[in-house]
Amino acid sequence: MAIISNCTASALSDAASALKAGNLVAFPTETVYGLGADASNQLAVARIYKVKGRPTDHPLIIHISSINNLDKWARDIPEYAIKLARKYWPGPMTLILPRTNLAKDFITGGQDNVGIRVPAHTVAQALLKAFESQGGYGVAAPSANRFGKVSPTCADDVKSELADYLSTDDLILDGGQAEVGVESTIIDCTNPTPVILRPGAITAAMINDLLGIKIETVLNNQTAQIKAPGLLESHYAPLAKVYLSGTPRSGDGFIALSNHPTPDGVIRLISPANNNEYAKTLYQGLRLADSKKLAKVFVIAPTGDDIAVAICDRLQKAAQKD
Ligand code: TXA
Ligand code: MG
Repeated sequence: MAIISNCTASALSDAASALKAGNLVAFPTETVYGLGADASNQLAVARIYKVKGRPTDHPLIIHISSINNLDKWARDIPEYAIKLARKYWPGPMTLILPRTNLAKDFITGGQDNVGIRVPAHTVAQALLKAFESQGGYGVAAPSANRFGKVSPTCADDVKSELADYLSTDDLILDGGQAEVGVESTIIDCTNPTPVILRPGAITAAMINDLLGIKIETVLNNQTAQIKAPGLLESHYAPLAKVYLSGTPRSGDGFIALSNHPTPDGVIRLISPANNNEYAKTLYQGLRLADSKKLAKVFVIAPTGDDIAVAICDRLQKAAQKD
């Protein structure tokens, strides 16, 4: 497994060829790093599950370079989904839509719908374009972490998560620190009105404003369980135990906005100035807790109806670990 730090056009064309040949390519997106495989290659996709240690009924998001390729993978696309796609793609948003024959059971976990995303990161865009120009249709990519763990937001984190599981011909593309830092907003577009299954940088308010309807957010209930099994369990979890209330003691880790002072003797992991910076650095902070071998991390969650909703969702799941 090689890390490619200079993502030139020719390096990306080689990476696209590696995907076409059935290898795995981890790549940056503006949310988190993904572990990519040719979405039409069953053996390559099977390796994603193996490398991640992920149950095979957890469906994968297919990444395409532009909205123009959407109808290859999705059919019966509602008008509101087209509006969302036109406004927020490329960007940190995944749409769940009825699938075409191209989206096989090995991608969708046997469901009749498929998750599609057009990422904005320049390296992701260039990789997808190169892949499509070599005859590929889309790149399946979950976050490039072991199952249940914290998503990687830089190439080194991908390496520390997956180096032991990747093969010689697999690649990691280094595109710097992910700008958003938490995973894409997932919107179920298989019903007459959209439903948010996973909050992200595209917020309910942004969707409401665009569509002129009040969008529902379904978290941790039956619907979410059937649609997106991965959204339920303990997830995004470091080895350290995460506490969303209580008082840290000397030697414990601490995560909060910068206006909260660090209690005496407590180890400050991140000190973001605002909610966007909080999202961008949260997973680094959780990883830092593990590299410092801390047993406990106390977190003061942010408030607001912006990306704070996504941060709180991930923190809840990180804190669910026994
Ligand atoms: O920001 C992101 O979305 C990143 C980057 C790499 O694109 N990807 C990502 O993928 O977070 P993953 O697999 O780690 O999380 C995707 C979640 C999973 O919980 C999965 O169950 C759900 O999306 N999902 C994928 N396809 C689905 C579908 N057809 N229906 C319902 N849920 C789906
Ligand atoms: Mg994930």
